[in-house]
Formats: sequence, C-alpha cells, structure tokens
Amino acid sequence: MIITSIKYQPVGQFEDTRFEKIHNIVFANSIEASICVAEEIAALIKTKQTKNKYCILGLATGSSPIKVYEELVRMHKEEELSFSNVVTFNLDEYYPMDKNSVHSYYYFMHQHLFNHIDIKPENINIPNGNVSLSDLHQYCIDYDLKIETYGGLDFQLLGIGRTGHIGFNEPGSHYNSGTRNITLDHITRVDAAPSFLGIENVPKKAITMGIGSVKKAKRIVLLAWGHNKASVIKDTIEGEITSEVPATYLQEHDNTTFILNGEAAQDLTRLNTPWLVGPCIWTEELTSKAIIWLCSLTKKSILKLTDKDYNNYGMSSLLAQEGSAYDINIKMFNKIQHTITGWPGGKPNADDSSRPERANPNKKRIIIFSPHPDDDVISMGGTFDRLVEQGHEVHIAYQTSGNIAVSDYEALKYAEVIKDVTPEDLNIDNLIKKINSKKEDTEDDVEVRNLKGIIRKRESLAATRFIGVPDENIHFLNLPFYETGTIRKKPIGKIDINIIANLIAEIKPHQIYAAGDLADPHGTHKVCLDAIFAALQILKPQKYMNDCWVWLYRGAWHEWDVHQIDMAVPMSPDQVLRKRKAIFFHQSQKDGVMFQGNDIREFWVRAEERNNETAQKYHQLGLADYAALEAFKRYYY
Ligand code: F6R
Repeated sequence: MIITSIKYQPVGQFEDTRFEKIHNIVFANSIEASICVAEEIAALIKTKQTKNKYCILGLATGSSPIKVYEELVRMHKEEELSFSNVVTFNLDEYYPMDKNSVHSYYYFMHQHLFNHIDIKPENINIPNGNVSLSDLHQYCIDYDLKIETYGGLDFQLLGIGRTGHIGFNEPGSHYNSGTRNITLDHITRVDAAPSFLGIENVPKKAITMGIGSVKKAKRIVLLAWGHNKASVIKDTIEGEITSEVPATYLQEHDNTTFILNGEAAQDLTRLNTPWLVGPCIWTEELTSKAIIWLCSLTKKSILKLTDKDYNNYGMSSLLAQEGSAYDINIKMFNKIQHTITGWPGGKPNADDSSRPERANPNKKRIIIFSPHPDDDVISMGGTFDRLVEQGHEVHIAYQTSGNIAVSDYEALKYAEVIKDVTPEDLNIDNLIKKINSKKEDTEDDVEVRNLKGIIRKRESLAATRFIGVPDENIHFLNLPFYETGTIRKKPIGKIDINIIANLIAEIKPHQIYAAGDLADPHGTHKVCLDAIFAALQILKPQKYMNDCWVWLYRGAWHEWDVHQIDMAVPMSPDQVLRKRKAIFFHQSQKDGVMFQGNDIREFWVRAEERNNETAQKYHQLGLADYAALEAFKRYYY
C-alpha cells in the first residue's frame, strides 16, 4: 500500500524527473498543505474507530506542524472528530528539560494540541526530559518497546532540520538507531536560539526516537516550509542516502510523502531548472532565469552565449522558439539593462518607455514601509537616500516597535543615562530595578518594553534625519500584532490592516516600498507584508490607487534573484558609505544583535555584501560595473 488519502499527484510522478527519490507534493501555501495532512490523519483516526482499533500517531514539534494541529483541533471542535482511540508518541524532548518549562516539547504539545482535544492523558507519550542519566538507557529501550506493544506507529508526522535531522537524529545517526540520548548539532541549536533568547540557553542534548524507530512507521509524512529548508529538501530528495543527511534514509521507506510549499521546494531540479528535466513552457520569467543560469554555468556574459551553449544545456526548445542565440541574447541583455536606474522615483522629463518607473508626476509622494525600525536603511538605504535627494515627498512607516530585539544590557544603559540626568526620578529607579531583576527567559514588563521601543524610535529618527526626512514624515505604527512581549506574535488582525490602510489613504502615495522578505526567521516581515497586501485590496477601488505602484525590497535575510529584479538602483562607493552610516544609527542592533537568524554577520556587513554581490552578478552578465546595486520587484495588486 502506498499513498492513501492524498490524491493531488499520482504516486511515482517523482520518478519522471530522473532526480527525485522521495514522493513529494508541492502546495501553493503551508495552510492548504497542512489542512490536507490533517485530513489524512483524521481519516485514519476514523477508519481505526470503525474497526474499534487504536490509532497510533508519531508526532513532531517545531514550527512546521503547528497548522496541522490547529486544523485537528478545529475538526475536534467543529466536526466532532474524537481522539478517544488515539495513542501518541512524540519524537523527542530536550534533555534535561522540565516538562513544565515553556521550552519543553511537553508544554508545546499540550498548548497546541492535547489541551484542546479529547485524547486520554494516559495515551500521550512524550520522552521525559527529567529521567535520571542512570535510568536513561533503559527508559529509551522501553519507549521503543511500548510503541511495539501497540503494533507500531500507523502514521508518523515529521519536520526536518537544516542539518537534515528528523526527530533529533543529527548527522552521523545510524539507519538502525533506536530511541536514545543525542548531542544536538550546532546548527540545530542556532535555529532554536531565538525562542530560548540566546544559544547559551539552548540545551546541548535531547532524547530522540531513532531512525530505525521512525522508519518502522506504516506511513510517514514530512512537512517543510520556507526558503530555509530548500537546500536540505533538495539534498534529501535528490541526493544519495548518507548519514550526513539522516532524512535521506527515508528514501528507503515506501510510504513516505514530503509535503512542501513552493519556497521549500524551490531548489528541486524539477522546479529550479525545469529545462534539465523535460519540455517546458518558456514564460518570460523562466527564460530570464534559464539564461542567467546558463551564463553562470558557462561563465560567459549574455552576449557571448552561442547556439551550442543553449543546445548543450537543455535549452534547445527555447532556441527553436526564439530563432537564434543572437536574437535571444540581445533581447535578454536589453531587458536586464532596462532594470537599471539611478532615478527610482522616475526621471523627470525623460522618455520613460523603457525605464522601470514613470517620469510623471516628477515629484512623487512615497511611503517606505519598514517592518522593523531599521529595515528601511538596511535594505534600501541607498534608494531611500536618492528618493529624498531627488526631491520626492518621502514618508517612512515603521510597522512594529521592534522592542523585543533590544537587549536588557542596552535598555539598562539608557535607563542609567536617564538616572544620571535626573537622579531624583524615582520612576527610573524602579525601571532599573525591573531590568536588573528580570529572569533570563521571562517576558518584559510593559514599562521595560516601552523603554526598548523608545530606544528604537530615537535611533530611527537619528537615521531618517541624517538622510534628510522631516520628523513629521516618520510614522511609528506600532502594529498591535507584534506587541506580545515574546517572539511568538499574535495573528494579523483587522486593526493592523486598518492602521496601514488609513496611512495609505491619508498620504495617497504614488509609490509604496515594502519588505517582500518571506525568509524572515521570525515571520514578522511576512505578517507586515500580508497586512499591506490586505490594505491594498481594501483601497484598490479608490481612484488615487490607480497611480500607486508597489515595489518590494527584500529584508535583511535574502535578495531577489537577478531574473526577479524589475528595478536595480546603483550606488557609488560614497553612497555605500552613507548607507553604512545610516545603518550605524541603529546602535541597539549592532554587536551581536538578538534575533538575526542564522547569519551572524552584522546587518551593515550583510547589506553591503549583498548589494555588492548583486552588482557583481550584473557585471558578470555583461552589464556595467557598479560598486553596489539595490534590487526591487514590482508587485501588481
Ligand atoms: C521536533 C523535531 C525536529 C523538527 C525540526 C524542524 O519534534 O523532531 O526534527 O521537526 O527541527 O523544526 P521546525 O519545524 O521548527 O523547522
């Protein structure tokens, strides 16, 4: 028996690509995908119920399965799905770990699933992070035996770590391994660091079910969302089986499906370079992508590509369609050339037929939306500077306060400055006391959060004044979804969307810049973007919106691929330095900032390296040699 209830794509389809060794389905988004997985689990539970049998589920924690659990809870509440015959075994738990800690997987499972359904408490099995070291070996053996006494797992839900771990089976894990105590990989600890408020608080060890235990499950479904997983997903689905990527062991399991969203699947050969797999429809975007890929493979600039190059690398059908390499090359060269402009707000009195922006009106009203109070200068500081210099009315809207990313040390520094200036102020004594007595992983008190928000506000104003924007054009939106005091944010609400819509309605901009950065490790950028998209839909019928163009920049974590760029704004070496200076005003985000994801370079270094890389990529394609380029993609709403 292979696939049962997932019917989107016939089993075996993956073999057609010659590259893939694990059945996988790519969904448009993780919500749709999670609902589909929840439906499969629910169907299994019900089938077992009709046969009066237990349904044995292996469950995972982490960010990937959260929506599946949400949907199962909804089915329980609204559709009477009962879990009375369900027995669960969780994959893992940190070690040592108290089950009452907010960091425990015990806590996670109860918060997301068990507290909201009718599962019998005695049917819940989660490795116990409090077992003494001397009992641990036997405890692990017993965990596996208990699964076996139930006849094994009917269904195992998995996520995947960037190391290729499933459960916490890190690189080096044996294909036959059972439940055991394991040392976590450094990358895994880095990924967990934000929720533990620093890597030093992440446990070094865990108890995990083994590869052997997982592989005995009758059905396995692995979930992966987001760019961060793209590379390990490709290695797992297309690579050789190796203990270096333990998830590759799943290639040997004949009833496994990977459920992916577009971002997680983007490196698969079938999606990334489809011309290597079979016939494809040469859309404009695919053509650009393929030609840029061909340039990097052959190390040639666009105008030097030959018919032979196109034929040799799976692109003969493009050649047949377009005539000759000569024709395709010129078309592509011009297309990319036309993305470059030193006039991001449009060049006044110039022919704009092949420019990215309109010439008119020559003085535009512009809103730059910045998810955190620094993304504006980090991601588009050079363009921001030019827009101001070229006389446009530029408004900056900081969407969130960014308060949780200010360390206690930084907050204390400022509180003590206030204290030195106003020694008799008793309130400040109180605040200092609160900061000093705060425990490692507890939420900030409202007053401390407020101080942290003010620090970011003042840093932002220093930067925008440096660029030359009047204070009245700076809008601190403090979107409520962000104000939880923890990394976990509230879902986007009407109130967030309305705040954004009101600002757009007030300014009636000709241009909006927004962070299209979907790889933000904490999801804030994505929520901020969703709020803008929702506001645009509300305002779309208004006449002034016909004149409003939206440009997406990427946040600190990623850059657009060259084939996606619609506008590239060059920077001279001096402009690069000015941008660096503007970033430096955000001092609380310098030197080991709290939530910067997996890349430990400071923001200004990342920004410079990435703008320089884009410039080099353009140059390698045969275009002009700039010091740096900022990149934008137009969004049509
Ligand atoms: C969690 C687990 C891990 C995670 C993996 C991905 O129980 O076993 O293997 O599934 O680390 O985590 P997320 O989903 O947070 O990316």
